[in-house]
Amino acid sequence: MAAAPPPVFWLGNDTLRVSAALFAENRRGLCKGLRAKDGVVPKSVVVLQGGEQTQRYCTDTDVLFRQESFFHWAFGVTEPDCYGAIDVDSGKSILFVPKLPDSYATWMGEIFTKEHFKEKYAVDEVQYAPDIVDVLSKLTPAVLLTLRGQNTDSGSTCREASFEGISGFQVNNTLLHPVIVECRLIKNDMELEVLRYTNRISSEAHKMIMKNVKPGQKEYEMESLFQHYCYTKGGMRHTSYTCICGTGHNSSVLHYGHAGAPNDKLIMDGDMCLFDMGGEYYCYSSDITCSFPANGRFTPDQRAIYEAVLKASKAVMAAIRPGVKWTDMHRLADRVHLEELVKIGILNGSVEDMMKVFLGSVFMPHGLGHLLGIDVHDVGGYPVGVERIDEPGLRSLRMGRLVQERMVLTVEPGIYFINHLLDQALANATQSCFINNQVLARFRGFGGVRIEDDIAVTATGMELLTCVPRTVEEIEAFMADSEKSFSPVA
Ligand code: GLY
Ligand code: MN
Ligand code: MN
Repeated sequence: MAAAPPPVFWLGNDTLRVSAALFAENRRGLCKGLRAKDGVVPKSVVVLQGGEQTQRYCTDTDVLFRQESFFHWAFGVTEPDCYGAIDVDSGKSILFVPKLPDSYATWMGEIFTKEHFKEKYAVDEVQYAPDIVDVLSKLTPAVLLTLRGQNTDSGSTCREASFEGISGFQVNNTLLHPVIVECRLIKNDMELEVLRYTNRISSEAHKMIMKNVKPGQKEYEMESLFQHYCYTKGGMRHTSYTCICGTGHNSSVLHYGHAGAPNDKLIMDGDMCLFDMGGEYYCYSSDITCSFPANGRFTPDQRAIYEAVLKASKAVMAAIRPGVKWTDMHRLADRVHLEELVKIGILNGSVEDMMKVFLGSVFMPHGLGHLLGIDVHDVGGYPVGVERIDEPGLRSLRMGRLVQERMVLTVEPGIYFINHLLDQALANATQSCFINNQVLARFRGFGGVRIEDDIAVTATGMELLTCVPRTVEEIEAFMADSEKSFSPVA
């Protein structure tokens, strides 16, 4: 009899079906990587701890749970408070689920059996978490491999698995992290399919917003519409990060939208909008920025800045292929920006000399782009041996390595007019000599433009995952067309 196909995660309607085979393949890749790693001995067992359900401060109000990313990558389990073990030699997987009290059935719903979870996640075995010591002991492991290592974007250390009785085992917490990070860096076919989906839904959500935005609305209405579309049409309960809906001057605030600046400005006629939003499906991210005028018509200055950024994006996309240095792609975007700012008249002089004093970082202080996957700033940007370049701009780049096939990256050049950076540059003789302050004055308060697409690296170049209007002509035509197939409620 043919084996039953693996179960799928599916939220019904037109949402994507994701096979549990995705995670089985991830686990196989991890075991292969570990078996090839110096220092990993026979009878090693990986132990990962999933995310925990938490409450708001000292209250009993649950925070909406989202799985811990490494655990999701390995098991695809949506429930909190689990552990997972993987026998490196055989690849056997064991999921440990919480032993829930009877009261759970009253307040939270049905308590499922171990068999239910075995079928749901296609793991080899399911046990209760309180039995973890006994179950692992029966494997007579030489060593448990737990996950400890630093996230090179946040600087935070991931929380290593711990449970009562772990001190009775030999534990190594350094071998696993670099191997699992390298595995997460390279996406398998099923992961690419999910990332295509998150991009398709999020692109449609951005387009819906372009059709519906009007001066007189609040920025947060756009945030709300985006979330509504992604959840209704895409089954995306989470966004990958807090929505950034900056308009006018706020479009120069790189991480606008936080609690201190919560997308609460009125959108004005003449404002540029910079909407950076991405939906997340089954813990896989997207990260897309669309910049356009709120009223649907670019002014000459808005067009000039927008087209400068678009030129940088196109230059980078034309150059991406396996083997190129991501730092070179960042420098390429800087160079195109500086050349265009000379044409606009904001800068004058030699672009070569401007590069020597890092003038590009005054207008694009952030990195060109980053890895994308289960985390929006996905892991793996700086493995041991790859150092961050300590220069303005490049020090904010979240990946310092060579581009490889099956990496998924954002390409997100931007030009911003950030008063304090402009003032610093004007006070710095090595930079101010290139700046035409009279022309620059016209752009104070302009805000900024970012164009952010997600791409997958192929053997010979790249695949563009994001699909939104990008040229000035496409944007103006799209916004002018009153066809409302993108109604938020249709
Ligand atoms: N949305 C955050 C970023 O673009 O990296
Ligand atoms: Mn973004
Ligand atoms: Mn990004």
